[in-house]
Amino acid sequence: MTALTLTNVNKSFGQVHVLKDINLEVEDGEFVVFVGPSGCGKSTLLRVIAGLEDVTSGDVHIDGEIVNHTPPSKRGIAMVFQSYALYPHLNVRKNMTLALKQERQSKEIIDQRVAEAARMLNLEEYLGRFPSELSGGQRQRVAIGRAIVRHPKLFLFDEPLSNLDAALRMNTRLEIANLHRQLEATMIYVTHDQSEAMTLADKIVVLRDGRVEQIGSPMELYNNPVNQFVAGFLGSPAMNFLPAGLLSDGDERTLGVRPEDLYLSDSGELSATVRHVEHLGGDTNVIAMINDHQVTARLFGQHAIEAGQDFKLAVSEGKSYYFDKSGERLSA
Ligand SMILES: Nc1ncnc2c1ncn2[C@@H]1O[C@H](COP(=O)(O)OP(=O)(O)OP(=O)(O)O)[C@@H](O)[C@H]1O
Ligand SMILES: [Mg+2]
Repeated sequence: MTALTLTNVNKSFGQVHVLKDINLEVEDGEFVVFVGPSGCGKSTLLRVIAGLEDVTSGDVHIDGEIVNHTPPSKRGIAMVFQSYALYPHLNVRKNMTLALKQERQSKEIIDQRVAEAARMLNLEEYLGRFPSELSGGQRQRVAIGRAIVRHPKLFLFDEPLSNLDAALRMNTRLEIANLHRQLEATMIYVTHDQSEAMTLADKIVVLRDGRVEQIGSPMELYNNPVNQFVAGFLGSPAMNFLPAGLLSDGDERTLGVRPEDLYLSDSGELSATVRHVEHLGGDTNVIAMINDHQVTARLFGQHAIEAGQDFKLAVSEGKSYYFDKSGERLSA
C-alpha cells in the first residue's frame, strides 16, 4: 500500500518557485531520505507533506486520500525538528504526553505509550527531568519520543541529528534505524549529509534547486547515477571528475571515477603526484594531482606513501562514468 503520493507538487513563496513538479511515491513501512544541498527545498517539501505549508499546485495524498486542505493535526503525521522544539517548562513525561492529552486519550493509553516510548529510547530515568537538565542527545530522544507516542502513520524528521556531535550522531542514527524496524513505521527523513542518507534509506530522493534529480535505493544511485550532480553528491570521498581527454586524445567528455576504483599500477595511464596522504588505518586516501586536476584514490589498508611522490594510477575495469558538458550521464 502507498503511504504517501505527491503528484506534480509545486510551491512558490511569492515570486520564488521553491518546489518544482515533485512526483514521489512512498510505500508503507519505507524509510525515505530527502537529501540535497542547503536551500534545495528539503524542509519545504517536508512541511508541505506535514501541512505546515500549502501547495501552490499539485496534490498530496496520504493513505490514498488527498490532504491538500487537511490541517496538520488531522494528517496522522508526527514531525521531529532539528531544534527539538521541546517545551522548556514541562518535564520529559509532560512533553511526551501533551499531544495525547490534546487528543483526549485515556490516562491508561497515555501511560502505556509513554512507558513504551521511554523504554525504546532509554529515557525511563529521565521522565521527571526538564529539558534544560538533559544533554543534546537526550533532548533529541525526547523529541523522537514525543512523535512515537502518537502512533503516527507517517514520521517526518527534519535533520534531527545535526545538533549532535559526531559520535552521538552515529549512535542516534543506529537508534533511528532500529526504531524504524521495531515500529515498522513509514519514515521520511531530511538531511544534507549523504552518509546519513546512504546508511538509513530504503529509498533516497536527491533534490537540487527544488527538483527531484533521481530516486532510488542507495546502491542504485551510487552505482547508476543519472547525472554528474548525483554522482558527485553521494559517496565519500566524492567521485573524481577529470577531462576524458587525459586518457584518449580529443575526448571531450568528463570522466568520473570513484576513489575506490583508482589504484596504483606501474602500467597505469594516469601520471600523478601525491599532494597529501590521509592514513586512516583501515584505508589510505591518497590525494594527488594529475596535471592540474586533483583526484583522491582510496586504497585498502595501510601504504607507505608520502607527499611529493610520483606514481601511475589506473582505473578499475568497467568503473568509468562519462558525462556530457551539461552533466548528463552518457553510456560508456
Ligand atoms: N517562508 C519562505 N519565504 C520565502 N522563501 C522561503 C521560505 N521558506 C523557504 N524559502 C526558500 O526556499 C528555498 C528552500 O528552503 P528550504 O528551507 O526548504 O531548504 P533546505 O533544503 O531545507 O535547506 P537547509 O539544508 O539549509 O535546511 C530557500 O531558497 C529558501 O530561502
Ligand atoms: Mg532545511
